[in-house]
Amino acid sequence: MHRMSRSAICASVHLTLVLSVARAAEPSHNQGPAPYAAEMNKKFTDPHADIHHFVSRFENDSRDIYVKRHDITRAVGLRPGDAVADIGAGTGLFSLLFAAQVGPKGIVYAVDIGPVFVNYIATQAKKHEYDSIIKPVLNTRESTCLAPGSIDVAFVCDTYHHFEHPEKMLASIHQALRPGGRLVIIDFDLHENSSEFVKQRARAAKEVYCREITAAGYQLIEKKDVCAIQENFYAEFRRVER
Ligand SMILES: C[S@@+](CC[C@H](N)C(=O)[O-])C[C@H]1O[C@@H](n2cnc3c(N)ncnc32)[C@H](O)[C@@H]1O
Repeated sequence: MHRMSRSAICASVHLTLVLSVARAAEPSHNQGPAPYAAEMNKKFTDPHADIHHFVSRFENDSRDIYVKRHDITRAVGLRPGDAVADIGAGTGLFSLLFAAQVGPKGIVYAVDIGPVFVNYIATQAKKHEYDSIIKPVLNTRESTCLAPGSIDVAFVCDTYHHFEHPEKMLASIHQALRPGGRLVIIDFDLHENSSEFVKQRARAAKEVYCREITAAGYQLIEKKDVCAIQENFYAEFRRVER
């Protein structure tokens, strides 16, 4: 596990990009991060949170992301030796699958703002003998706390709508990505017919999120035959050089 203090790690993360997040004029719902994000993040960052509660919520057959986890992992298409950041790693559901894909020459940064998640992932990594591949990182709400140019792929699953400072997180991810690196986002696609569950959580439609992301220095990659996940979209972006 990374032993650097949070401030030491973050001190190295100077955001050099001046980004403007497009506050889109789409039929939307809320502009800016949903109040839900800050509220929900309180539970995630509680140092006394019950990790087993979250394991049963995130790793559950009633969650389509969990059911399709292998399809999703295949779609991300990591190669042996890649460095990937699972940002908002939660219980490490994808961190463990990515570790198998990148192998002993690769690295998986399991990044989360919740100490219980980071600690749990560290124990899981050890249990599955991935502790030399998976590096848990306790980040901040504004920064990935990853070194510049340290990753090939950033993976953000069911987490973008939790970002309280999306423009800062996008800048931090941009800086952490190597030239040509990819950002993969899976999140709720909010529209009129969305379920109440999604309406209470998501703040915008896929198009709005995509505009925010492209405005932050990423280009949408058109990809066919990507797994369809109920009520969610899957989108990939490439870091654009500035
Ligand atoms: C709904 S969970 C998703 C977990 C995992 N990606 C999955 O799909 O199973 C959202 C996670 O995002 C984390 N999170 C929220 N804001 C974050 C931020 N700015 N940086 C990193 N993690 C964040 C929360 O602590 C929580 O673990």
